[in-house]
Amino acid sequence: MRKEDLVYRAIEAREMSYSPYSKFAVGAALLTSDGEVYLGTNIENAAYGLTMCAERNAIFNAYCHGVTQDDIEALAIVADTDLPVSPCGSCRQVLSELFPHDKEIYLANLKGDIKVVKIEDLLPYSFDSDDL
Ligand code: THU
Repeated sequence: MRKEDLVYRAIEAREMSYSPYSKFAVGAALLTSDGEVYLGTNIENAAYGLTMCAERNAIFNAYCHGVTQDDIEALAIVADTDLPVSPCGSCRQVLSELFPHDKEIYLANLKGDIKVVKIEDLLPYSFDSDDL
């Protein structure tokens, strides 16, 4: 799948955002090697700290369907930002454990800008299970 098509699926996911507090809608789409796409969007709560980000919802959604690191091909994340969206620190930490380090992450905005990164670019020198 072309990265633009995965970003388009993330834009579709973004339309389902529940973000009445921040009004900042984010969408994510995770592609597996068998061509399945798992969507995620940000879901907020009046108790703000309970909010879950789009990219974490996408990767948790995939894992809930039996997907593992070996199955994952790419992840697209999109928001209405000037520059391609920058994932929050919590999502970087979760992705560094669950998302394969050799696969690409497409950071995008609604203007069509796409920045291609790997998790190592987003979270170098990460804390992981080897540190325990
Ligand atoms: N948000 C995401 O969904 N992903 C990120 O990486 C950054 C932040 C959401 C959380 C909250 O609903 C809104 O964006 C504003 O922080």
